Formats: sequence, C-alpha cells, structure tokens
Amino acid sequence: MQVALVILAAGQGSRMNSDLPKVLHKVAAAPLLHHAMSAGRSLDPALTVVVTGHGAEQVESSARAFDPDVATVRQEEQKGTAHAVLQAAAPLEGFGGDALVLYGDTPFIRSETLEKMLAARRRHAVVVLGFHAADPGRYGRLIADGDALHRIVEFKDASPEERAITLCNSGVVCADASTLMRLCAAVGNANASGEYYLTDIVELARAEGLSAGLVLCDESETLGVNTRTELARAEGLFQARARAEALENGTTLTAPETVFFALDTHIGRDAIIGPAVIFGPGVTIESGAEVKGFCHLEGCHISRGADVGPFARLRPGAELAEDVHVGNFVEIKNSILGEGVKVGHLTYLGDADVGEGTNIGAGTVTCNYDGVMKHRTTIGKRVFIGSDTMLVAPVTVGNDAMTGSGSVITEDVPAEAVALGRARQVNKAGLATKLFERLKAIKAAKNKG
Ligand code: UD1
Ligand code: MG
Repeated sequence: MQVALVILAAGQGSRMNSDLPKVLHKVAAAPLLHHAMSAGRSLDPALTVVVTGHGAEQVESSARAFDPDVATVRQEEQKGTAHAVLQAAAPLEGFGGDALVLYGDTPFIRSETLEKMLAARRRHAVVVLGFHAADPGRYGRLIADGDALHRIVEFKDASPEERAITLCNSGVVCADASTLMRLCAAVGNANASGEYYLTDIVELARAEGLSAGLVLCDESETLGVNTRTELARAEGLFQARARAEALENGTTLTAPETVFFALDTHIGRDAIIGPAVIFGPGVTIESGAEVKGFCHLEGCHISRGADVGPFARLRPGAELAEDVHVGNFVEIKNSILGEGVKVGHLTYLGDADVGEGTNIGAGTVTCNYDGVMKHRTTIGKRVFIGSDTMLVAPVTVGNDAMTGSGSVITEDVPAEAVALGRARQVNKAGLATKLFERLKAIKAAKNKG
C-alpha cells in the first residue's frame, strides 16, 4: 500500500515570539519541519504534501531543501486542522493509498509508531494516534473503548467528565486518502472555536458505518513545540535519545551528556567520540574512527581509522580518507584529504586537494581567498609541506615535492622539487652579545632616573 504524508505547517506559532515561522526553529541543527519529514521518510512515501501559511515562502523552500520532490500547498487563512488537510486535496487527487497527517511542530514521532498506525489501518478505516498524558491540559480527549475510538472532543468543547479523561489526541491521523478528503470536506465549524476540526472525522466516519481505531505512543513522542522553553526542552529530549541510540549502536561516547548530535548524524560501530564534540548537519563517521574532545564538525566525512582533534573544526566539504590524522587547532573546509594524510597542528586547509601520504606541517595555510574569489590548492601524494608554509592559491605542488618551512608558495612546484620561498638567512657573528649589553645598559639608566 502506498502512503502519502500531509504535514500541517501553516500555523503562526505566536508564542515563539519570533519573526521566523515556528516550524523553521531548529532542534539538533535541523528545522522542526525536517524532523517531521524525516520521521515520515522511513515509510518511503509516494508523495509528501506540506501545508503552509504563515511564512509560506520560507517554509516551502525549507521543505524543498529536505526533499526536492515535496508538494506544497497554501492555506491562506488558518481555519482549522480539517481545513488545512483539505488544502492537500489537489496534490492527492487520484492517489489510491493511505494518507498520514503529521504536524510540522511535533518533531519526535517515531517511525515505528507511524508503521503501527499503517498496520492498524487493516482493521480500521480511520486510525488516530493517542497517548496517556501525565497532565492532559488542553489536548483533545479520546473517547474510546479498547482500540475502538468513538469520538474526539476538543478541550474547549468538553464537559467536566470528558476533561477528566487522560487519554489524549496527538493529532496524527491515518486514513485512505480519498476517505480522508471526503470526511474533511464534511466537517463543519459549529464548535467553541468556530474552526474546522480534523478530530470531527472520527464521528463522521462512524456515522458512515466505518470503524475508527486507536494506536498509542509514549507521551514524549507527541511533544509539540509552542514556546522557546519547549524548544529547549525538545533539544534536550532529542539529545538524550540520540546519545542513547549512539551508545546502543556501538559508538563509544566518553562523556555522552556533553556531545550534541544533529538530526542526520551517522556514526559507525566502534567509533569513539570524546567529550564536548558538537555535530552540525551532514556528518558521517565510519567505523573505528576517533573524534577527540572539543571538536566542531559540520558537513564532513571521516573514514575508518582516521582520528580528529582535540580542538579541530571540520566544515562543509571536508572529506577525510582512511587513516587521516587531523590534530589540534586545525580547520578544514571543502577539502579532500587522501589516505594517511597528516595535518597535525594549527593549520587551515580550504578548497584543497591533498594526495595520499602527504604531511602538512604546523601552521600551514592555504590562502584560498584573494578578497574577491576563492581558489583551489592542489597538493600531490607523499608531499612534505614544511611548517608555516603559505600556499597562495591557485597553486599546485607535485607528487613527492617539499616546501621549506616559512615559505610563501606563489608558483607551482614541480614533482620531486624543493620549493623555498623565503628570505635567505644571514648570521652576524657576536652581534647578539653586543645587543644584549646595549639593552641592559638602557634599562639600568632608566631604573636610576
Ligand atoms: C490539535 C487537535 C487536538 C490535539 C492537539 C495535539 C484539532 C482540532 N485538535 O489541537 O485534539 O490534542 O492538536 O497537539 O485538530 N494548523 C494548520 N492550519 C490550521 C490549524 C492548524 O496548518 O488552520 C497546524 C498548526 O500549525 C499545527 C497543527 O496544525 O502544526 C495543530 O494545530 P493547533 O492549532 O496547534 O491545534 P491544537 O489546538 O493544538
Ligand atoms: Mg497545538
């Protein structure tokens, strides 16, 4: 059975007190919207529709950044969740499978939970995701009998007896796409908010003789983000979950509570991550690699057997082949390092290709920016770059070449050559002794006066 996702993301999120649309606020270095899209992605949806409204253009471009094939529809006026779902009617036209309604501001629904909902669809026409709330607050209440769902009542419309129910509506719903659209179209707005409630489709389905069912999940999965406080709490929850998963998957975390993962961080078995390592988006680390403490990684790939840090920064496009060594205070951006390359200390490599077995001396800088444009540096295999070499790009150093320490390399270096680009040294015999004496005399005269 094919699945379509309908992700509601039109709401303003006024309690965020922000110019940024709520679903674009980030948890684990990714917009909330991407979390919802990512949970749904594991179902391999045939179609994903994001319903936008407030900040529509920004939200749409963020949705496309995650999935270029996403369909977006606009809900010009926010008239309620059923009205929002109805906006997806056009892209869902003729779609024969199930539609799953998710929320852009509810980042933690597990894929396993969504799969359970799809499985429950074999027994019920409409499946709703519920949870037992510690504090049910203003959530919609589920009137159910076992896994048979009778009705959902919104808090505002609920009687005191109904408000006492702690079984709550997460908002996530699954039904055959055409049934969902038909039911949503039949929803009215005669309720306390004057809104078209998606929750009303349960009663409408039952009136047609269709069955409605319930799947339960843990309350932590349904956590919605409405305020900055909830955003911070969501970050904490995400990190706790990601750390536990990394440990279970065979990654060593020396100090788990100090490591921050991104939504898409991938780490292989037997990798070791030291304390206070921060992952930005787009990092993959292969099995057996080691990242020592206090590194900041983003958009990079670290291969098997490589070690990085402490105190290294890998930026987007940093590609480290097997057994590369990157040491302290090294920054690498948009550079490909071949097998066994060593960059031990205090170095910037930007827009560079470095061949296998090359050693980059301490304090090396690829001068990649001329103030207007960026240029590449190409360094061959088995090269020895002397400490404090400035490589003024565009420049190429051939295989098996060397550069002298302190050189400023502005011209290409042929293979096997030594390049010296520095002033020749002059030694003045005995001059140091004379200089020391003169300086001491000046100091003594000053102290007297
Ligand atoms: C909804 C449910 C409630 C459930 C709660 C869980 C309804 C009527 N109520 O209530 O039973 O317990 O979620 O959090 O569905 N949205 C739109 N367009 C709209 C209205 C909403 O896109 O016109 C989006 C919002 O951006 C948000 C989501 O739908 O992402 C839920 O809307 P919200 O107004 O938060 O619904 P609740 O009142 O919380
Ligand atoms: Mg809400």
